Formats: sequence, C-alpha cells, structure tokens
Amino acid sequence: MTKIKYVCSLCGYESAKWYGRCPTCSNWNSFEEFSVSEKKSEYFEAEKENIKAEQISDVKNSLGQDRLKSGFEELDRTLGGGIVPGSVVLLSGDPGIGKSTLLLQVAVNIAKEQNKKVFYIAGEESSHQVKMRAVRLVPEKELAKIPLFIISSTNTAVIFEILQKEKPDFVIVDSIQTMETRGFPGFPGSIPQVRHATLSFISFAKKYNVPIFLVGHVTKEGIVAGPMLLAHMVDVLMYLEGEKLGGIRMVRAMKNRFGDSDEIGIFVMGEKGLSQVKDTSSFFIEKRDKKVSGSCIAVIMEGTRPMLVEVQALVVSSTSGFPRRVSLGISEKRIELILAIMQKHLRIPLERLDVFINVVGGVRVIENASDLAVCLAVWSSFKNKFFSDTVAISEIGLLGELRAVASLEKRINEAKKFGFGNILTKKEYSFLNQIIYDKN
Ligand code: TYD
Ligand code: MG
Repeated sequence: MTKIKYVCSLCGYESAKWYGRCPTCSNWNSFEEFSVSEKKSEYFEAEKENIKAEQISDVKNSLGQDRLKSGFEELDRTLGGGIVPGSVVLLSGDPGIGKSTLLLQVAVNIAKEQNKKVFYIAGEESSHQVKMRAVRLVPEKELAKIPLFIISSTNTAVIFEILQKEKPDFVIVDSIQTMETRGFPGFPGSIPQVRHATLSFISFAKKYNVPIFLVGHVTKEGIVAGPMLLAHMVDVLMYLEGEKLGGIRMVRAMKNRFGDSDEIGIFVMGEKGLSQVKDTSSFFIEKRDKKVSGSCIAVIMEGTRPMLVEVQALVVSSTSGFPRRVSLGISEKRIELILAIMQKHLRIPLERLDVFINVVGGVRVIENASDLAVCLAVWSSFKNKFFSDTVAISEIGLLGELRAVASLEKRINEAKKFGFGNILTKKEYSFLNQIIYDKN
C-alpha cells in the first residue's frame, strides 16, 4: 500500500494535501508530491539493530573521545575543536564555492598525517576528476600509499556494502543530493531520496562511530533546499561562503551540537586549493598609510575572535525622488536605521542623497557594534573628513546615543595590536553628535 504525501521543498513541511503556498514558510509553488510506502521504510539497518535502554553512566560519552583533526585549525575551531567520532556534518554552500576542494584537502590531510582510512564518495564526479583535483592540491607522489579511497557511485546500496566491508575511519559524501536508494520513491535530489540517504548515513555513522561529512547544495535563491530539510537531522550544519571572484572563503557553523555555533574559519582560495588565514584582521583591512574619505574601521566578533574590518561608504547626491540605499555586508534595514538617526541628529539631508555601504573583503557583519563605524564612514564621505585611521566600536541608539557592546576590551586590544591610536567607544563619548562636533 502506498499513500500520497506533499512536502514543501524549501522548509520540509509535510501535509496530506497540496498547497500553492506553504503555510509554514510562505513560499509559493514549493510543494512536491511523493508516495510513501505504508510498509515501514528501512533506513540503513536501523531497525535490525538490537536497541535496549542503558543506564546513563553506561552510555559512552563521545564528547570526551578524541576528536579527529582535519589538518585545518580554522575548520577544527569552527567544529568546536575537531571532528567528533560518529558525528554527521553537513557542509553547504553555493556551487563552485569550494566544498569539494575543502573536503578533498581534509581527506588527504587525515589520510596522510594520521594514517586513517578515508573514503571519498564521489557522486558528482568520476574518480578521474577527483584525482585531477587531488593532484592539483598535493604533489602526486604524496598521494601514493596513503589510505585514501574514492568510490565513484551514487547507489547507496553499493556504497554501504563497500563501507561495511572496508571499515573506514572517515567518510565524505559529495554530494547528498546525488545519492540514490533504488526502490525508494523519487529521483535523486528529491526530498524523500535526500532525506532517506541522509538518515542512512546517520545510522551508519552512529553504528560504526565513524564521522561523516555530507556536501549539500544551495539553490539559486540562496535557500538551502536539501540542507534546510536536513538541518535538524545532522549534528553540525556548516556553510562555506564568500565572494566567488575574491579569494576569501569563510566556513561558518549555523548549528553545532558539539560547540559554539558562531565561530567562523577563514580561508583563501588559491592555485593549490584553500589555505588558512590566521591573521584575519590584517587580511581585511587595507594598509592605512593614505588618508581617504569614506572609510572607517570596525571591530566585529566572530565567535570568540575579534576581527578588524573596513567599512566603506559613498554618499552622492540623488537623481531620483527615492534616494538609493545599497549595502553589501550589513543588513539594509540596519543601514536605514543608522541613516535615519544621522539625518535627525546630525542634520544631514539624507533624503536627497544616495548612500552605498560596503564591508571590505565580503565579510558579513551581523552585530550592531559596527554602527558607529558606519556613521563615521558616511559622515566622512559626505564631508570629506578622514576617519580612515579611526577604529569605531559602538552601537548607536535611536536617540543618537552610543551604546555598550559585548567584549569591548577584546575589541580594543585587537585595534591596539594593529597600531591604531584613534579608538572611539562609549568610554570617550556618550552621543554621536559630540564626536562629530569634536572631530570637525
Ligand atoms: P569546487 O570545490 O569544485 O566547488 P563546489 O564543490 O563547492 O562546487 O571548487 C571549484 C572552484 O574552485 C573552481 O572555480 C576552481 C576553484 N579552484 C581553485 O581556485 N583552486 C584550486 O586549487 C581548486 C582545486 C579549485
Ligand atoms: Mg563539488
């Protein structure tokens, strides 16, 4: 017996009837039909296992177990200190951003440096293509004799048979959308197939205590079609992001059962794959020897780490009745708010000015501690005053007041470390207009 079910391909909402618009995530035309067998679906041997209740102190604590090192400190920190045995990590990101490259490098590192048996399941590429990429990343002779194996297949039955026999220490699945469980409804990449394959890999990981990385694609709209659906199933959900043309790549944990979720790791894509950027601040700020208008430095916290970033603003007179506000790196809502505060408290005729904001290096700023830097960059562009040697650390309130931010001392120390003498915070000023009055 089979029955028909409908699932929203964007948020995973399930229902017995079809909707034109998803009642949960409000997206249109996102419902897909699939038939489910009344017979209980068999995940990877999950039901055949002998499960019994255990007294809590008898349960193995995998957090205490040695975590596997990926060979990249930046990635390990994002994971909360390495790869937890038996965990399943979903690495998501735009096509072409470097997911396969990163994971192949991790595969080589783990196989080469720790002599662990690594399996790279290539569902999107042939073994030959994977080899060509590997040769680009490390000299071919280094690939000889390392326990790194490629399985070029999308058939999960075949894959699990090999994995069960070979007893891997680490598995990479590239990508989960290509995996196909024959005899199960849907085509590869459809919701039931992706979900089923994910559950199967999770059961495998838990049963054999093997960590597994799954690659998951993001759709064009920037919504993680597959991955969103899988977010609650996996232990860690990470994104690899960055501007494709620039070399910077950031790996960010959105969900992490084994560590903080706001850590990020920073890499740069080069001729030989990704390499780590440890000194992030100097990477994101240009040399400060020139006086330029329209620039100010902010200090943002990425997890536990302070990072200097340059905020740039361009203010020009508007040719239309609706002045433009374009922002890259900071939410446009926040920019609107800051501009309204400036219009009121600094009396800038922003209703006649187009404002463009950019955070250099493709960094995304999600906290408000950079408000003051935005104000000063805008003011600087508008008045041709220089704030390019200034570090501004404060949130701005609607009254034009400077507001406290978390980890202020850490941020100040980072600015001092890079030789900045002009540091503006709530310690020096209470109101935005005092700074402007003072620095004019
Ligand atoms: P890839 O890892 O295939 O992306 P994804 O798996 O996320 O789709 O990365 C592809 C891009 O990275 C491609 O544009 C080429 C570039 N690249 C480098 O710049 N240097 C390298 O050493 C490698 C292997 C790829
Ligand atoms: Mg790929």
